[in-house]
Amino acid sequence: MELNSPTAINKEHVTNNFDCGVPSLNSWLLKKALRNSSKGFTQTFVVSTNNNTVVGYYSTAMGTIKRQNIPKTLQRNAPNEIPIAILCRLAVDINHSGKGLGEAMLVNAIERIENVSAQIGCAAILVHYLDGMDKFYRQYGFIDIGIENTLFLQINNAN
Ligand SMILES: CC(C)(COP(=O)(O)OP(=O)(O)OC[C@H]1O[C@@H](n2cnc3c(N)ncnc32)[C@H](O)[C@@H]1OP(=O)(O)O)[C@@H](O)C(=O)NCCC(=O)NCCS
Repeated sequence: MELNSPTAINKEHVTNNFDCGVPSLNSWLLKKALRNSSKGFTQTFVVSTNNNTVVGYYSTAMGTIKRQNIPKTLQRNAPNEIPIAILCRLAVDINHSGKGLGEAMLVNAIERIENVSAQIGCAAILVHYLDGMDKFYRQYGFIDIGIENTLFLQINNAN
């Protein structure tokens, strides 16, 4: 099945059949994703079929992290509050899982954030993961920083 590349969610996207197996992630997409995007609280990027049915999504937001919470090797010359992007949610519909979509969306999110970092300061990505899901993110270089259910990835800045 042909799928559209990740694009910012809009009101044409059909979200009511989305089921990733985690009810809170399903209902957040249905009830909050679009409204949060319109307020700038998060931005959600969806992968959809040709009839606009959403089969995967991820959400991002900006944030900061305290210098003492990043890996020691990066602390030198860093400000007290370090700008970061947060990968708040990432989910794939169970009918489309196991085919590389989760990985493709994660790579897309990282590239998008790296591009943003060329326009506005952003040093790393934090991901908040559900219990047991850290393995998924560790495969792509995310590391522990001693904050519960949170992993960290330094990003490649173009400068
Ligand atoms: C986790 C999730 C996003 C993976 O999406 P997917 O499209 O099935 O994953 P992919 O097919 O791209 O798999 C990419 C890699 O991750 C691995 N992987 C997939 N699900 C995994 C899991 N639950 N735990 C650990 N690794 C996982 C795959 O084995 C694959 O590695 P490989 O190439 O070495 O085999 C999806 O199963 C999902 O939405 N789960 C429910 C919501 C959730 O837990 N979201 C993440 C949490 S915070």
